[in-house]
Amino acid sequence: MSRIAYVNRSYVPHREAAVHVEDRGYQFGDGIYEVLHVHDGRFMDTDLHMARLARSLREIGIAAPMPDQALLAVLREVVRRNRVREGIVYMQITRGVAPRDHAFPGNPVAPALVITARHGPAFPRDIDRWAGTAVTAPDIRWGRCDIKTVNLLPNCLAKQKAREAGAYEAILIDAAGEVTEGSSSTLWIVDAKGALRTRRLDHHILPGCTRAALAELLAEAQMSFQEDGFGEADLRAAREVFVTSATSFVKPIVEIDGRAVGDGKPGPVTRRLFDLFVRHADAEAHRGADPGAVPCAGAANRMKAER
Ligand code: PDD
Repeated sequence: MSRIAYVNRSYVPHREAAVHVEDRGYQFGDGIYEVLHVHDGRFMDTDLHMARLARSLREIGIAAPMPDQALLAVLREVVRRNRVREGIVYMQITRGVAPRDHAFPGNPVAPALVITARHGPAFPRDIDRWAGTAVTAPDIRWGRCDIKTVNLLPNCLAKQKAREAGAYEAILIDAAGEVTEGSSSTLWIVDAKGALRTRRLDHHILPGCTRAALAELLAEAQMSFQEDGFGEADLRAAREVFVTSATSFVKPIVEIDGRAVGDGKPGPVTRRLFDLFVRHADAEAHRGADPGAVPCAGAANRMKAER
């Protein structure tokens, strides 16, 4: 079966899917994106991703290409046409096509919308097999990492460093020695004293949708976590480390820069959160007929309120 992409109002064969050479996303990285996991044919944490998409668009002054419900319908159609049951759907919105000029186009142009869907491996059920390793890398990104832009060169360089070391993720550390996040994931630790911690939300990290969903699950389980800064020393002394994202879910990191985290196996807190997240994923997949319907409404509302 051939893959289908959606490019500016048309469904086209994936191999022919292309944007104009003067698309501002291609020229300047002037665009934003979202990645949603598709589990059992349904989107996970849809409202969180739609809220973050709207925020990203607003922060860089790009108009929404269509209302949310229409966009969700196109996302569903791309998933349906590609028969993705387990995988991801990717959407990218750029400022559109205009003669190359750093400033925004004088005459407004229509934003460009691209959507692709991809099959992925089965949702992980065995945490020990799901565990991965990481390296550390300097965080050399810009001052608005909270916007999910397609400007990902520093992230790509860090991920490549991880790849070359045979590791899954690169953990980014800023110039002040503070740990920010993974190159494409949110970072969490259980510190030497047993406290579950992830960095506070500010302009230096992406507000992860998986993070927000997990925060809801933690609250439901009456488990607390700290949102504060922590440094490289805390990371290296941590009992447990894990990352979260729409593609890594809750993924234990059992080795950093070649040194074992704890005893080199996923720890008890990570195991508990992995199980909670697996249950959350299955609940999302069986939540009514509409893949875009009200998942994690509490967290989504909070994210909307933060807009
Ligand atoms: N990345 N931080 C960064 C820098 C990310 O790129 C991502 C996600 C996250 C986690 O966000 P979420 O939980 O909403 O997926 C944090 C996606 C998966 C990507 O770029 O492919």
